Amino acid sequence: MLGSELELRLLNYRDTSPLTGGQVDDEPYGGGAGMVLRVDVVAAALDAVYGEAPSHRVVALTPQGRQLDQELVEELAEEEALTLLSARFEGFDERIVEQLATDAVSIGPYVLSGGELPAMVLVDAITRRLPGALGSEASGLEETFSAELDGGFEYPHYTRPAEFRGWEVPEVLLSGNHARIADWRREQSRARTPS
Ligand SMILES: C[S@@+](CC[C@H](N)C(=O)[O-])C[C@H]1O[C@@H](n2cnc3c(N)ncnc32)[C@H](O)[C@@H]1O
Repeated sequence: MLGSELELRLLNYRDTSPLTGGQVDDEPYGGGAGMVLRVDVVAAALDAVYGEAPSHRVVALTPQGRQLDQELVEELAEEEALTLLSARFEGFDERIVEQLATDAVSIGPYVLSGGELPAMVLVDAITRRLPGALGSEASGLEETFSAELDGGFEYPHYTRPAEFRGWEVPEVLLSGNHARIADWRREQSRARTPS
């Protein structure tokens, strides 16, 4: 676990760059547009923070990585610590992904301008799986993609008023019959989950 209290540290490659003027990227070998994040810069940042190669997982955020899903979130939420690496422009020197990172993760099959939003998505998804993150421990157990719902979609929710513009809440939810409600929810979850 990341601990009962989450500790987040935000680091800027420029602060530990061994290059003059806080340079972090360079032109691609072989030519082409855009700038590439340098491997020596990322190595210096990791050395400055951890002293040596981190003993925990180092995740490079890239659209070419393993696509993030709830299973991967649960897996990463078990880790004591994580380092997330973001890039911009053309992305990482490939040696960062191959040598410095242990994982490459994509948040979806589309290209964003930088790794900041993917990092925030990952942090949010992981944080809510940590003990004590949600108000009630039960909340977050039965939800979309959870094992409790066989990886399917969650059932629909309703709240007051019971009737609005003629749109009524399903009668079973007002019945007070917990067994019937549980059956109905399972059925709804199965029905709305794509096969
Ligand atoms: C413009 S993208 C680089 C795209 C790269 N040239 C390519 O074609 O695969 C810049 C950076 O944004 C981040 N990024 C963009 N889309 C992402 C995604 N879907 N998942 C994770 N990170 C992403 C990565 O850190 C990436 O290196």
